[in-house]
Amino acid sequence: MRKPIFAGNWKMYKNPKESVEYLDQFLPMLEGHEASEILLFPTATSLSTVMDRIQGTVVRAGAQTMHWRNEGPYTGQTSPTMLTSIGTTHVLLGHSERRLYANETYEHVNLKLKAAIAHKLVPVLCLGEMLADRNDGYTKDTLLAQMGAALSNLTASAVRNLVIAYEPVWAVGTGSIATPEVANEAHGMIRDELRDLFGNNLADSIRILYGGSVRPENSAKMLEQPEIDGLLIGGASLDPKSFAAIIHNS
Ligand code: 13P
Repeated sequence: MRKPIFAGNWKMYKNPKESVEYLDQFLPMLEGHEASEILLFPTATSLSTVMDRIQGTVVRAGAQTMHWRNEGPYTGQTSPTMLTSIGTTHVLLGHSERRLYANETYEHVNLKLKAAIAHKLVPVLCLGEMLADRNDGYTKDTLLAQMGAALSNLTASAVRNLVIAYEPVWAVGTGSIATPEVANEAHGMIRDELRDLFGNNLADSIRILYGGSVRPENSAKMLEQPEIDGLLIGGASLDPKSFAAIIHNS
């Protein structure tokens, strides 16, 4: 059994004060909730405030990206040890917005993934094809290329805590969600590749989340699909009521 994960990616929203206001509303809605794992990915300047506020609750939090080195002359970057020093447990890697707007390459994602594993941060590796890839019939090739690069030189035991998020770029922030069948098919491709790379046991245990225009009214149908083990939510996670509705509906 794969325990479902509901993850909220706050992107570049919510300062520390707004984050606390959010948690004051959100945390009581989750009391006693054990059926799934709940993750928040706040922006860097709110992360430490969120870490303090979620102590003793069921919520875990992570960074939206990180560098692979521990320190150095890398203006604007945050390191894995800086994240673990404030108790961070998770890190989002290879989000399409990082790949598109921050020039994150396949090689960077691989270096970051290795660093996350070395520092015992749970990596949530984002994959997804652009609309043109899908229209041209290259969805599977794209996903496999992204996986092959990100996971290169990693063993099954190294990636045992890995979480993957399938986020088709055409569905991120567009309001046009993949159909549950289309998403399930892509998740199946990813899981088959995990099987080839790391064997059945690992492939059967890795959680694959869907992300892209998830809302309270469409989330349950997604989770009915056998290959979909949770959701990575952007816009709809910014409102505590709608994020909690997604968690409770599903
Ligand atoms: P939206 O839910 O706003 O489409 O964003 C999805 C996403 O990018 C989560 O990482």
